[in-house]
Amino acid sequence: MRKNSVFIETYGCQMNLADTEVVLSILAANGYDVANDIQSADVVLINTCSIRENAEQRIYGRLGNLKRYKEKNKNMVVGVLGCMAERLRKDLVEDKKIVDMVVGPDEYRRLPEFIDMAFDGEKGIGVRLSRVETYDDIMPFREDGLQAWISVMRGCDKFCTFCVVPFTRGRERSRSLRSIVNEVKELSARGFREITLLGQNVNSYQEGDSDFADLLSACAQVDHSMRFRFSTSHPQDISEKLLRTIAEHKNLCNYIHLPVQAGSNRILDLMNRTYTIEHYLTIIDKAREIIPGVSFSTDIISGFPTETWEDHLATLDVMQKVRYDGAYMFKYSPREGTKAYKMEDDVPEEVKGKRLQEIIDLQHKISFEVNQELIDKEEIVLVEGLSKKSDKFFAGRTDSNKMVIFPLNDYVVRGDYVKVKITRATTATLFGDFIEITEKYMHNELKTA
Ligand code: SAH
Ligand code: SF4
Ligand code: F3S
Repeated sequence: MRKNSVFIETYGCQMNLADTEVVLSILAANGYDVANDIQSADVVLINTCSIRENAEQRIYGRLGNLKRYKEKNKNMVVGVLGCMAERLRKDLVEDKKIVDMVVGPDEYRRLPEFIDMAFDGEKGIGVRLSRVETYDDIMPFREDGLQAWISVMRGCDKFCTFCVVPFTRGRERSRSLRSIVNEVKELSARGFREITLLGQNVNSYQEGDSDFADLLSACAQVDHSMRFRFSTSHPQDISEKLLRTIAEHKNLCNYIHLPVQAGSNRILDLMNRTYTIEHYLTIIDKAREIIPGVSFSTDIISGFPTETWEDHLATLDVMQKVRYDGAYMFKYSPREGTKAYKMEDDVPEEVKGKRLQEIIDLQHKISFEVNQELIDKEEIVLVEGLSKKSDKFFAGRTDSNKMVIFPLNDYVVRGDYVKVKITRATTATLFGDFIEITEKYMHNELKTA
């Protein structure tokens, strides 16, 4: 008998990408094949994001497009997964006729059941959030490759006033250290070289006596030729122990994504971020002292309710003080159900836009300058393959996640760590000359040398 096949489209953050792999694994275990395109799929799932209004608009647009496919293939089942499923629940199946089922992030084990219901013409809704579900025992479905991510915790208890995540993902819970380390071992055996440990707030990882630093250290010891990243860190929970752990292990990348959101203490307080800018800058200083050469990236929101010109200048000021390698920069978007939704969204759209543009321009200038400082320096690069723009060049990434392009040669293969001397740099890319293939995990040694 021909197996049913499933096609999943994923929107939003890396956690959603990781969840898609869990969903594929659950469905594969229940006899589904993975379809290569929508046309050939019996089940089309959209794994959605609610973080900002425009993320949801995009997905509504996509659901509209799917109508065409469903008209051609009447038996096709369309399901909405992820954060929008949680936020909009029943409305989705009622308003959007083409949606057959709505399944939130903690109910993926029941997907086969919901799909069967949908094939029988019933609409299924599963949006219960769990305090314990971590999909601990499910080995995500992954194609072979160099890079993989592993969710180490789910949910968020921080309740920043602008953010829907605590509502769409539920309470914080951590996966067992043992199951994470086992997954790392499996990925190592399959030849993966770089792993990103994921959670909305990885620093509050806790399992028994083990905290996030213990987890990182356990992962780092599995295979010294694999390097590890993690995302996201909340400034409140960054411990000195964590910084020391990063410094101690050569295969933990010297790179921290540390969202600041805003530069003004008054706004940070309204956002319920639970730190002051002074405290944030102390963390940055301490990290730079403990981990020489560490670099940072951040998230910034422009135009939060009541933000004044002075508040905006404070954001530019903190960017100049930290000199981030990169930043994700957003206009504030009111989300129903959050605390900030009750505040008046009083910064006019064009002011938000203008401030955001200034933030983007400043970050580009800083990224460019930071990259210029790397010229004539040597960087260790994990080679990912040929450059997308030209097959005469290799492309790979540094410890600090910067793309490096260097000329093709006969010695290097994908997955090697190589030493490259940087000769030229733009805002987003470094160019250089190949020096040598290095011992596997030297990439941090260089920074501390
Ligand atoms: N857990 C992570 C980030 C989760 S969402 C953290 O705490 O840093 C990713 C980013 O989206 C946030 O850091 C924030 O900058 C942005 N964001 C979240 N809600 C938003 C909103 N309502 N409007 C605009 N940006 C938002
Ligand atoms: Fe949202 Fe704040 Fe949690 Fe990040 S820490 S997911 S911004 S509530
Ligand atoms: Fe979006 Fe949900 Fe991630 S709202 S950013 S997909 S946790």
